[in-house]
Amino acid sequence: MKTRITEMFGIEHPIIQGGMHYVGFAEMAAAVSNAGGLGIITGLTLGTPEKLADEIAKCKDMTDKPFGVNLTFLPTVNAPDYPGLVKAIIDGGVKVVETAGNNPQQVLPFFKDAGVKVIHKCTSVRHSLKAQSIGCDAVSVDGFECGGHPGEDDIPNMILLPRAADELEIPFVASGGMADGRSLVASLAMGAEGMNMGTRFIATKEAPVHENVKKAIVAASELDTRLVMRPLRNTERVMTNDAVEELLQIEKEKGADLKFEDIIEQVAGVYPRIMTEGDMDAGAWSCGMVAGLIDDIPTCKELIDRIMAEADEIISQRLARFQGA
Ligand SMILES: Cc1cc2nc3c(=O)[nH]c(=O)nc-3n(C[C@H](O)[C@H](O)[C@H](O)COP(=O)(O)O)c2cc1C
Repeated sequence: MKTRITEMFGIEHPIIQGGMHYVGFAEMAAAVSNAGGLGIITGLTLGTPEKLADEIAKCKDMTDKPFGVNLTFLPTVNAPDYPGLVKAIIDGGVKVVETAGNNPQQVLPFFKDAGVKVIHKCTSVRHSLKAQSIGCDAVSVDGFECGGHPGEDDIPNMILLPRAADELEIPFVASGGMADGRSLVASLAMGAEGMNMGTRFIATKEAPVHENVKKAIVAASELDTRLVMRPLRNTERVMTNDAVEELLQIEKEKGADLKFEDIIEQVAGVYPRIMTEGDMDAGAWSCGMVAGLIDDIPTCKELIDRIMAEADEIISQRLARFQGA
């Protein structure tokens, strides 16, 4: 399948694996890229320019295909060495960067000069237009369904994607709630040039996370996510568990007075315990409503091949039937 996104990134299928904290290591990115999608290493998980450079080198040993690096700008207690991370990406010869969180304007000139394509993750049409105006090459439009940070507007993809299509000139991928061939065809129908998946890629054989995480996603239904940190305007969609229910109780009790320190135990530094050690009640971890559509743990190649075959079947059979073809 050829779209503006496959052409821009030099990939076979219009499917991207979004950056994911403590999931987007070289093993994950290489598996997705080897399967014809675009795998993405999560820059901040590595943390330092040296470690990121090592991970990029490792990924290059595992695949000859293009892969990207995610650079997330979020409110953190100790700001990472962003200039150093940018340099590691450019020196490592990476050709695609997924930016997220704040406006990436400050880093754009460095990537432009180095010929690196930038896809910025946005949760609204106005942020997408801003990304376009500052020179981003593409955007990833994340609807309210998405795992991670859906923003504060709460617009689901059924509305957000066509709205983005009406306004944007640069290509965009649909993100949030994507799982299968139906998601891909629906995204294309609504004006996207491909799709980005997070949660779905965690439940794959190659995802370098504890088996408990994969099993939790398979076991979960679409009713099992919660929105946390809403009062801090830093909303995150997470899988429910004991720590999350405790967190929500604290939010309820503190009301408008809630401070980050009140919930630090449930959110800070919990990812290694969950993703690496498989302690599923250690704290809040991002997960999309799409967990309700996930009931197996295939390889990335099986998953992507299946999505493409299903998309093909829907376009050439199911949709064609409605035209009386
Ligand atoms: C466990 C997990 C961690 C994530 N970490 C990040 C991150 O560090 N930076 C980022 O830009 N997006 C992050 N995301 C968001 C994903 O890249 C992607 O946009 C989102 O998962 C799409 O929604 P879906 O889960 O419904 O597919 C994360 C998502 C998950 C599930």
